[in-house]
Amino acid sequence: MGSIPNAPSTTSSSSSHPQPLAPPPSTTTYKIASIPADGIGPEVISAGLRVLATLSQAFASRFTFAVTHFDWSSETYLRTGRYVPEGGLDELRNFDAILFGAVGDQRVPDHVSLWGLRLAICQPLQQYANVRPTRILRGVTSPLAACQGSAENAKKLDWVIIRENSEGEYAGHGGRSHLHQAWEVGTEVSVFTRHGCERLLRFAYETARARPRKTLTFVTKSNAQRNGMVLWDEVNAAVAREYPDVAADKMLVDAMTCRMALQPETLDTVVATNLHADILSDLAAALAGSIGIAPTSNLDPTRRNPSMFEPIHGSAWDIAGQGVANPVGTFWTCAEMVRWLGQPEAADMLMAAVEAVLGAGVKTRDLGGQAGTDEVTDKVCEEILRLGKERGFFVAGKE
Ligand code: IPM
Ligand code: MG
Repeated sequence: MGSIPNAPSTTSSSSSHPQPLAPPPSTTTYKIASIPADGIGPEVISAGLRVLATLSQAFASRFTFAVTHFDWSSETYLRTGRYVPEGGLDELRNFDAILFGAVGDQRVPDHVSLWGLRLAICQPLQQYANVRPTRILRGVTSPLAACQGSAENAKKLDWVIIRENSEGEYAGHGGRSHLHQAWEVGTEVSVFTRHGCERLLRFAYETARARPRKTLTFVTKSNAQRNGMVLWDEVNAAVAREYPDVAADKMLVDAMTCRMALQPETLDTVVATNLHADILSDLAAALAGSIGIAPTSNLDPTRRNPSMFEPIHGSAWDIAGQGVANPVGTFWTCAEMVRWLGQPEAADMLMAAVEAVLGAGVKTRDLGGQAGTDEVTDKVCEEILRLGKERGFFVAGKE
């Protein structure tokens, strides 16, 4: 980490308290909408909220989180016929960020739950950039360590995948005709707009520019798909000219899978369409050791609407309610949220705490450990408080 600011000074007689009774005047309160939804969503979100509260404490309440819960879920849908109630989106617009658990329930077809909740939020709130960082956390074993000969080589995997999140293959265009006939037809039409491609590609180049390697790989399939993908390529070529300092290359999506597995160290920022990045990000998560730890951010880069943060893993009903879900995907998600809200030191500290705990072998079963959700959460909270003292963030850390 770079410079670490000193703890803010206290102004009142409470200065001898390790934790001030009232937040110091400089406190920023972030309004968070929590939507835990389905399956393991509620367990991992409650673990995430504990970690966020601890982080606020470790930073001497320099920032705090005011959390409002929304019970939008498949359960609510089955009861009321709606995931998002009338006026729900306008309510969300009052928040600084949305923390989302998972949606999916076997009583509801997947496309109904996805379009009813997650896409019903992302698309109208213009969260057009989906960001998926991938790296191999300390204490996690990547399958690449074996095939690349050393854990050290595998550590070179450090990517951020930028996924178009508003149109493309997920635009919802298409239809069904000749229902129940032998000649029934269904179409699924991808939609690529110049505006949609341009705003996302610009965000991707900005992301690449802000990272040390300033390297971007543009993913396409314009050899086979000769309309939308060719527009996607043309817009990329135009945007790339505005970023001469970013070294950009172009890959066909099929060849990209080989490169990710065989030359992970040659990649840094990756930009791809909605569906291509969906698939590539699962491969990325597997190569980094587990889908249980991967975070995602659905961003409105213009900041006119709140952005939404979620672990990638989904509802995992097979382990729901057993206390064994891996909360690390949510912790990493919280770190991304905190970074987006403007607290990079807190985000770094949260990730340092997570890596210390995983490195000490406190892991859930999916990572080869024995710990439950609560134990991992307790340890991460302890480590956050320890780091907070060590790094001098406590107001009057006399201990
Ligand atoms: C993801 C998921 C979703 C997607 C599913 C749950 C529909 O796989 O966020 O990557 O395809 O967008
Ligand atoms: Mg996916």
